[in-house]
Amino acid sequence: MTVRLNLCLLLVLPRLILSDPGHPNQVVLLDTTAVLGELGWKTFPVNGWDAITEMDEQNRPIHTFQVCHVMEPNQNNWLRSNWMPRQAAQKIYVELRFTLRDCNSIPWVLGTCKETFNLLYLETDEPQSPTARFHAADYAKIDTIAADESFTQTDLGDRVLRLNTEVREVGPIARKGFYLAFQDVGACIALVSVRVYYKKCPSTLRNLAAFPDTVPRVDSSSLVEVRGACVEHAEERDTPKLYCGADGDWLVPLGRCVCSVGYEETDGLCLACRPGFYKAFAGNIKCSKCPPHSYSHSGGSPLCPCDIGYYRAGKDPPTMACTRPPSPPRNVMFNINETTLFLEWLPPSDAGGRKDVAYNVLCQRCTGAGQDCEPCDRDVRFIPHPLGLTGTSVAIQDFVAHTNYTFLIEALNGVSGMGGISRPLANITVSTEQAGPLLVGAVRKDWATQNSIALSWQEVEQPPSPILDYDIKYYEKEQEQLSYSSTRTKSPTAIVSGLKPSTIYVFHVRARTMTGVSSYSPKYEFSTGDENSEEASDQGQVLVIVLAAVGGFSLLVILTLFLLITGRCQWWIKAKMKSEEKRRAHFQNGHVPFPGIKTYVDPDTYEDPSQAVREFTKEIDPSRIRIERVIGAGEFGEVCSGWLCTPGKKELSVAIKTLKGGYTERQRRDFLREASIMGQFDNPNIIRLEGVVTKSRPVMIVVEYMENGSLDSFLRKHDGHFTMIQLVGMLRGIASGMMYLSDIGFVHRDLAARNILVDEGLVCKVSDFGMSRVLEDDPDAAYTTTGGKIPIRWTAPEAITYRKFSSASDVWSYGIVMWEVMSYGERPYWEMSNQDVILSIEEGYRLPAPVGCPVALHQLMLLCWQKDRGRRPRFGDVVSFMDKLIRNPSCLLTLVDDVHGFPESPEDMPDYPLFISVGDWLDSIKMSQYKNNFIAAGYTTLDSVSTMSIDDIRRIGVSLIGHQRRIVSSIQSLKLQFLQVQQNSFHMNGHFCEKMEM
Ligand code: ADE
Repeated sequence: MTVRLNLCLLLVLPRLILSDPGHPNQVVLLDTTAVLGELGWKTFPVNGWDAITEMDEQNRPIHTFQVCHVMEPNQNNWLRSNWMPRQAAQKIYVELRFTLRDCNSIPWVLGTCKETFNLLYLETDEPQSPTARFHAADYAKIDTIAADESFTQTDLGDRVLRLNTEVREVGPIARKGFYLAFQDVGACIALVSVRVYYKKCPSTLRNLAAFPDTVPRVDSSSLVEVRGACVEHAEERDTPKLYCGADGDWLVPLGRCVCSVGYEETDGLCLACRPGFYKAFAGNIKCSKCPPHSYSHSGGSPLCPCDIGYYRAGKDPPTMACTRPPSPPRNVMFNINETTLFLEWLPPSDAGGRKDVAYNVLCQRCTGAGQDCEPCDRDVRFIPHPLGLTGTSVAIQDFVAHTNYTFLIEALNGVSGMGGISRPLANITVSTEQAGPLLVGAVRKDWATQNSIALSWQEVEQPPSPILDYDIKYYEKEQEQLSYSSTRTKSPTAIVSGLKPSTIYVFHVRARTMTGVSSYSPKYEFSTGDENSEEASDQGQVLVIVLAAVGGFSLLVILTLFLLITGRCQWWIKAKMKSEEKRRAHFQNGHVPFPGIKTYVDPDTYEDPSQAVREFTKEIDPSRIRIERVIGAGEFGEVCSGWLCTPGKKELSVAIKTLKGGYTERQRRDFLREASIMGQFDNPNIIRLEGVVTKSRPVMIVVEYMENGSLDSFLRKHDGHFTMIQLVGMLRGIASGMMYLSDIGFVHRDLAARNILVDEGLVCKVSDFGMSRVLEDDPDAAYTTTGGKIPIRWTAPEAITYRKFSSASDVWSYGIVMWEVMSYGERPYWEMSNQDVILSIEEGYRLPAPVGCPVALHQLMLLCWQKDRGRRPRFGDVVSFMDKLIRNPSCLLTLVDDVHGFPESPEDMPDYPLFISVGDWLDSIKMSQYKNNFIAAGYTTLDSVSTMSIDDIRRIGVSLIGHQRRIVSSIQSLKLQFLQVQQNSFHMNGHFCEKMEM
């Protein structure tokens, strides 16, 4: 007999427990409470489980399954769900809600009534046929389910619901789907709901990265590592990662994304900056309001472009207000004494909103009614220099008397030259009435060879003041408008060498006196010899030299014999002979002095070094020196600052190097050696020696004081503070000082930013002239295998390998100084070891451009670092190049950061520097003789030259095949370079510099 207990009572009870709690980390495969239609579950046997569907208050079905055959033994009633695809699940959870009656509460069922049922499952890849029978052996048992709570008849009166909730894990599931089965063995059960789900870590946004839905591993002890993808308009900083835990929770967030430029974070997303705002850097910062004189009309601006007429310089940060070029300088005044013309002006009324105003002073000499003017910047001397002045005055020397000069004073700032704005110029015309008369008589050609011409002229009998020297200016007659050279001599004769054969040159000469320079003599034209005349003239010259030598030698022999016979001064003869030998060796070592130009004399060539000190330095009375404070320590003693008083003159600010007590004679000699070197120099970019104290203790060397100390520490202290023009101005000064040194035959050997001093007006001066001895003192000098001490990072390879020091090796060091300046005092080659530096240079590696370095400057560096020292530029070339950059600041606008694919090594460079004139280019390939052909045919820029074909070359008159070939192959590399420039530059329409002059 089957007793069916009425369990309907359950169904009218409130449904409070059946609602879904809504877990976001669960994916539900089945929830019987949510199924609106028939469930369609199978039961076996047919009188086993009953499916009862009632309607709730909202008219939704409530599916329940009930069984209660507690009085009959051996019950085996099956209820089976539909087939459920497992989807992504590896492990599933089954949540059952049911009631179960307490057997004690039912009379007469002892022995047959059960209080548990079995939960089972069956995995298959597809649903079984609907007619398939239940076989217990096919199923895997999940668990025997017992009630935590059961209810009794008596409880019903209280309407206490004893609903059980049990959850079981099943897995891993490998097949595509599964069935659940409920086996009743004689209990009284009402199965109220079945929920089947698996867990996942739900898709989420963390640290601006999106993470997808992720199913945890079955093995609950291991986590799934998930990489996030940055949200739109964000970029990765460190790879964003999360780990998915077994319970569907995200754990251990790592890495992050940040909003890109032009976007800021809002509610976990990157949203565009509003119009009027910008964000220049990627990061978790907010958009900022556009700086003054700039705007952004649309959203998402990475920076605010400048208003019309306003600009940003290359190094200006995007946060800075836009600025404009300055107005012209004001109130230009002059003051002239016999030798010096002083120009002074007031700063512009409008500095354009910037603090980096500098000035260029350009000179024009005008004749007639002032219409006929020619540039004269190279004829006169500017102190401190004509271009990139930071002060509002300049002194001018070497001007010609009775001449009208017009000086154009240009105010520049970091944005000058942008937007093609006309140049803010002020001008003043000065007449040099006070200067002296013509002091040079007729100029004669004495003899000529293929490459030189010897000149002489008459001296004026009684000059108004003693003549210091003569200045000879000359140029190729055909090339008048392109360039000229000059040389100096103390006597009224000169041999001008380095000329081209069979070429007419124009010469004119003027004298320099204590009171100024005279007017130039009229122009004289003389020709060099051709190949045939060479021998004759050479022979003539040789004859003259031989005769002179024989005469001189005879005189010397007579004098020597006389001295020997008298037995006096034997020591003097020895010393002189020895020092002559040494001096000859010095010149043979590379320097060929220009005739008439002062040559540096190595103090080591003196037998008695104090003789050199006497010859090249002034003794100062120590009572004139007032020491103020110690500013550093040198190898020989302290360095102090102080004052030098000279009667009738303003006190001069000086630095005083002292020789500490207890020195040896050798130390004293080495200490004073530097003074006898420095005392020979006279140049605004070389530290000036005021004098020495040798006759009392302490021994001192007194030099001009440089307010800003050494260049390397000065740059480090003011990192990023200077405009490009100021930096180029500093480099120009150093090159100019070095040009002077190389012209007089002095090789520095330790040129480095630490050995450059900077004054208050940013003028840079070369210092530290101890050469080999100073290297003992230089912390950057290392011992070589041959025992010498060399500052490896600054030194050219040939000087490191076989001690071949020359002005060309100084040019290499200058390239390193350029790099130090442009990187604001960074250590060259950073922390690489000396050994690695040597190896990498040998392999062709060169220092890359510092951040923000103009292409033009890095290219010049690469030229200075050419392995073949003969191919490096000379200091004169460097000075002209810098002058061109200062005159055309727009050439500095293209930075290496903007251009990719430029040569990193000089071996990759073409044979000439970029941005030079056609004239310079022809010089560099030794084809100068064709300058006129190019100009006459209208090829005045390198752009136009780069388009020339071999026929064009022939057409303009280059007839020698070898010359045609050399020019064409150089044009090939020009083309290549322009191509690279055009492909890579985006600022300047393919030209870094459109206005570079010839
Ligand atoms: N340190 C060494 N020489 C100096 C000088 N001339 N001026 C300033 N500081 C210095």
